[in-house]
Amino acid sequence: MSERDERQSGCEVVTLPNGLRAIRERACGEVMHPGAGPLVEAESVYVAPSRLAARLEEGGEALVLFDVGLGAATNAITAWQVSEAQGPGARRLEIVSFEHDLDALRLALAPENADSLGLTKSGANAHAAASALLEHGLHETPRTRWRLCLGDFRTWLATMPDGCADIVYWDLFSPRTAPALWTVSMFKALRRACREGATVHTYSASTSTRSGFLLGGFAVGVGERTGDRDETTIVATRPEDLARPLGAAWLGRLSRSSVPFPNDVPDEPGARAEALALVRACPQFRDIDGST
Ligand SMILES: C[S@@+](CC[C@H](N)C(=O)[O-])C[C@H]1O[C@@H](n2cnc3c(N)ncnc32)[C@H](O)[C@@H]1O
Repeated sequence: MSERDERQSGCEVVTLPNGLRAIRERACGEVMHPGAGPLVEAESVYVAPSRLAARLEEGGEALVLFDVGLGAATNAITAWQVSEAQGPGARRLEIVSFEHDLDALRLALAPENADSLGLTKSGANAHAAASALLEHGLHETPRTRWRLCLGDFRTWLATMPDGCADIVYWDLFSPRTAPALWTVSMFKALRRACREGATVHTYSASTSTRSGFLLGGFAVGVGERTGDRDETTIVATRPEDLARPLGAAWLGRLSRSSVPFPNDVPDEPGARAEALALVRACPQFRDIDGST
């Protein structure tokens, strides 16, 4: 990428405190995978907790992965590599990447950045796949179909059939930058597109994110710590798929929180009390007594 193209890009490459490189979007100032760095977070927050390899090894129909916020494609490429390494009996993986701005991907693919951002990690194949996605919106191998839905995620989501997604990597800019993408109505729309048994993975562990997913019709649990975050979040359509479901302690935190709910729950006592009652009635809290 020429210096001029780089200056005009909406994104720039930055060096994290741990010395690793990552991409920052200039307009909102947010860094993609800011804690432990792109490759570590893609693995520890998304690919490993989604048990992608094990789910592919089960065999059967193609597994559909929604990659929400393609960005520099670190999550998608990490998943793509897991799929490409599977044997012939495994399920195919269909990655559906959603993105409305391809500057981060262009920057990550530039020869001077591709190595440090992991796009050449296992040879040239990942780089070629991501380049094809950028150019044609589709890349296909016998094991993996990867397609790009370019534009606003909400518009694309409305076109997706009911119950089509098995795994969702929810990696959009934060609720502070993009509150409209972290609402109860957004999560209800996502729930419609999730198949029974689906899981959703996100870096955010905020109380309002978690209550939003619960009010959207999901079960919610604690995900692994990563970088400077003590916790991340794993969401499922079925509570029994969560290793560490939120329980009484979290309900207590919710009732004391100054920002308990996403911003489409009106900030007035009646609406909050109603939302709190709906959260407490979620199946995962059924056996908890009401004294929290
Ligand atoms: C945190 S970054 C994603 C990082 C990425 N998952 C990776 O592994 O490199 C969030 C991305 O979501 C995209 N995005 C934000 N709002 C969007 C929307 N409404 N529709 C589609 N993409 C959106 C941004 O352009 C940005 O690239």
